[in-house]
Amino acid sequence: MKFFADTAELDDIRELAATGLLDGVTTNPSLIAKSGRDFMEVTKEICGITDGPVSAEVVALDHETMMKEAEVLRKIADNVCIKVPLTVDGLKTCKALSDDGTMVNVTLCFSANQALLAAKAGATFVSPFVGRHDDNGTDGMDLIRDIRLIYDNYDFGTEILVASVRHVVHVLESARIGADVMTAPPKVIMALFKHVLTDKGIEGFLKDWETTGQSIL
Ligand code: E4P
Repeated sequence: MKFFADTAELDDIRELAATGLLDGVTTNPSLIAKSGRDFMEVTKEICGITDGPVSAEVVALDHETMMKEAEVLRKIADNVCIKVPLTVDGLKTCKALSDDGTMVNVTLCFSANQALLAAKAGATFVSPFVGRHDDNGTDGMDLIRDIRLIYDNYDFGTEILVASVRHVVHVLESARIGADVMTAPPKVIMALFKHVLTDKGIEGFLKDWETTGQSIL
């Protein structure tokens, strides 16, 4: 499963990239606003940190203007992936861009039928939002199971990008189901490394090692 960082904070992206485990980045208008940075500038900088896909979202609601915005965004770097909302106009834009060889991430997916439409429109990625489903009182991971089943039934190439990930159990469940990608806030990705027994184990080994009086270097 690929790991994308769901953030526009450059220091966090650099820290994750340095682990060698970062496969891409997703942003959205709220994350850009939170960063306080210029959209074009920060996206270019992110594209310089990772070679993986960097999702940059259009904000227009109509197909024609979405295409114009996509044209501007895809000039930022070769690894920009155009993010469009799961609407009629968004999917028209997805179809036009993907027919033209541009990576597209269809976002704000909340049902398996919507994911089916995104795959038919040629999306590179579909982003089902699990956390927002949970917030709304339904199990977001059920949606991922349904989409996996449907995509496998028809051999769709669209990758399931689990979004709105809030905690490490979402990551575990995504991997169990066989999602292709998950995007999470940096703190969730860093939490994956942690286990109290790992820390305790290191402490115990080092204490015993000291008693040997040896050194490796
Ligand atoms: C990713 O592409 C989405 O924009 C993001 O995961 C949404 O997460 P949120 O529901 O925590 O805002």
